[in-house]
Amino acid sequence: MSITIKTPEEIEKMRIAGRLAADVLHMITPYVKAGVTTGELDRICHDYIVNEQQAIPAPLNYRPGPGYPPFPKSICTSVNHQVCHGIPGDRVLKNGDIVNIDVTVIKDGYHGDTSRMFFIGEPPLKARRASDVAYEAMIRGIAVVRPGATLGDIGHVIQTYAESQHCSVVREFCGHGIGRKFHEEPQVLHYGKPGTGVRLVQGMTFTIEPMINAGGRSIRQLNDGWTIVTKDHSPSAQWEHTVLVTEDGVEILTLMPEDRG
Ligand code: MF3
Ligand code: CO
Ligand code: CO
Repeated sequence: MSITIKTPEEIEKMRIAGRLAADVLHMITPYVKAGVTTGELDRICHDYIVNEQQAIPAPLNYRPGPGYPPFPKSICTSVNHQVCHGIPGDRVLKNGDIVNIDVTVIKDGYHGDTSRMFFIGEPPLKARRASDVAYEAMIRGIAVVRPGATLGDIGHVIQTYAESQHCSVVREFCGHGIGRKFHEEPQVLHYGKPGTGVRLVQGMTFTIEPMINAGGRSIRQLNDGWTIVTKDHSPSAQWEHTVLVTEDGVEILTLMPEDRG
């Protein structure tokens, strides 16, 4: 499959799916407190998506390819030095933790994918910095999206900013086209050179989701087949939006309710 250009009807469905994904992050916010387990957060999100939104949690039983066991839960929860794809379970969140919650819903056949960091109490400066840098890197990446810009332009601004802040960019995972499929072409790298790679066209939808480490960029996968951690155990952070290339710029499809017009 090549890059899909969404029709106006498909874009409307992407807007709905994106809004629902952001609504889940809004809904779960008051529960993300010291003492809660990541498994409890998963159950609350699962029930909300299935019962209130009448949507499908895309991660549940998802297999990106051979070699991956099906993902066993409905959201990803990645704590402290976990980079991404953390599996919710018995872990109790405690003061000083940072956690990424990554939500992907399917509504009417279309996907919305968004994640954000949460702080439990007051985390160490290094961990808060990783989150702040990941957020700003994502925003800078989104800001260059318009017809005629390239994927390399996006990767370049993200990498340049993150490295200027003495953080590193994880290379092994990237943003992705999104639509009827969870992970479509193209791959949206969070590093690169200006003017290189695919040229953006109105109607493309993809995610920008930089994973930023406070230390080195090396990662490894845990034996659960999913969880990615930093090799040096430095804190890692990620923020993610699903975006649409518009006639003259970009529309963020996964804005939180308080940021919508
Ligand atoms: N939501 C992740 C992303 O942003 C993918 C998670 S795959 C899963 O692409 F199976 F772990 F859910
Ligand atoms: Co994604
Ligand atoms: Co995601």
